[in-house]
Amino acid sequence: MRNPNRTASKRRREAKGDTSNKYDALVIYNSANGSTTEYAKMIAEALDCDIVPYSRKYIAYASLYRNVIFGTWIRAGELVNLQLLKKNSGNFDLGSKNLIIYGTGIAPVDDPSYQTFVKDRNSVSDMYFLPGKFDPKKVSKTAKASLGAMQETMYSQYSDTVENVMRERFKNGYDGISKDAIIPILEDVISTANE
Ligand SMILES: Cc1cc2nc3c(=O)[nH]c(=O)nc-3n(C[C@H](O)[C@H](O)[C@H](O)COP(=O)(O)O)c2cc1C
Repeated sequence: MRNPNRTASKRRREAKGDTSNKYDALVIYNSANGSTTEYAKMIAEALDCDIVPYSRKYIAYASLYRNVIFGTWIRAGELVNLQLLKKNSGNFDLGSKNLIIYGTGIAPVDDPSYQTFVKDRNSVSDMYFLPGKFDPKKVSKTAKASLGAMQETMYSQYSDTVENVMRERFKNGYDGISKDAIIPILEDVISTANE
């Protein structure tokens, strides 16, 4: 079904000489092991919008779009590189954008206390939590070392339920990647993209 807002926006763009069907949106993804990238690609494909990896070189492109979707992985409750993105935001006028944030992780994504903790820790009022992936057999030496160093402090900040689920997933591996998980993000972009 065609989205009427999208049609209106398309007409506006056509009036300006832009005949592409694309959403005025850019997905910027920051991934260590690929799951955040997988979601970024699914989102960009579903919306037919542009996509770039997070890097100093590319983030300036954000200034060209009205909607910016930033996806990153969660490390001990931190949305990796979000603060850096915000620090540089003046350079590409991020304050004036519709910024949508998603975080990928292995914690139970629907747990309210966990969600509140991550949002507070990153000073984010709204975000999407997507089920990520962890393969203990493929973990890099750096990730193993970080995990060893961070794990206990990390768990002390989470509830027992979250801690138990995470311990089990780090030990036995977990793959929560799901196409359905991006639906709320798509709905958000589609409803706000052309306001
Ligand atoms: C050092 C370390 C800390 C992590 N901390 C968290 C965390 O606090 N919450 C969470 O849900 N997942 C955590 N994870 C799991 C990753 O966020 C998860 O594997 C994610 O899918 C990785 O995304 P990527 O494949 O895009 O790199 C952690 C993983 C590592 C290695």
